[in-house]
Amino acid sequence: MKTLIVLIGMMGCGKTTVGKLLAKKAGYDFVDTDQEIEKSENMSIPNIFNEHGEQYFRKIEKNKILEFINGKNLVLSLGGGAFEDEETRKILKKNGTVIYLKATPECLFERIKTAIHRPLLHKNFSVETIGFILKKRVNNYEKAHHTVDTCGKTPDEVCEKLMRFVK
Ligand code: S3P
Repeated sequence: MKTLIVLIGMMGCGKTTVGKLLAKKAGYDFVDTDQEIEKSENMSIPNIFNEHGEQYFRKIEKNKILEFINGKNLVLSLGGGAFEDEETRKILKKNGTVIYLKATPECLFERIKTAIHRPLLHKNFSVETIGFILKKRVNNYEKAHHTVDTCGKTPDEVCEKLMRFVK
């Protein structure tokens, strides 16, 4: 039985907040891959981008995800770009239930306008930039097993919707 729940979606869609709530409610463990990367690299995500570049980050991100693919009773929250990798997508879809937390650029902008820790948005932070990144990724996000709309919903309301995927 698949007891690995994988949350994907853009920066600010609520993967970490909702993931923690869901894990608590379901009695599952919770892992956020960005946090795990920061721990094992002993460096913040922006510093990893600055010092080593995005390509390096993507490599360690992929390896980190692979460490958790056999997780049982686990909610795994991914960074917004992680599902772009084809092999990662295939493995996650085979091993877990992948859920796309969907949100519009406007709604994402409102949620993350005060967060400064996202290197991809440092230079040009706007609804347009978020929309541009989303447009490039949406095709892959939609390959998730399920999509849940998060706009206008509280983390608790989204969590409630996700409970039906808990076995
Ligand atoms: C990224 C999203 C971030 C983090 C990194 C890159 C992306 O995670 O992995 O800054 O490419 O969208 P969150 O989606 O948790 O913000």
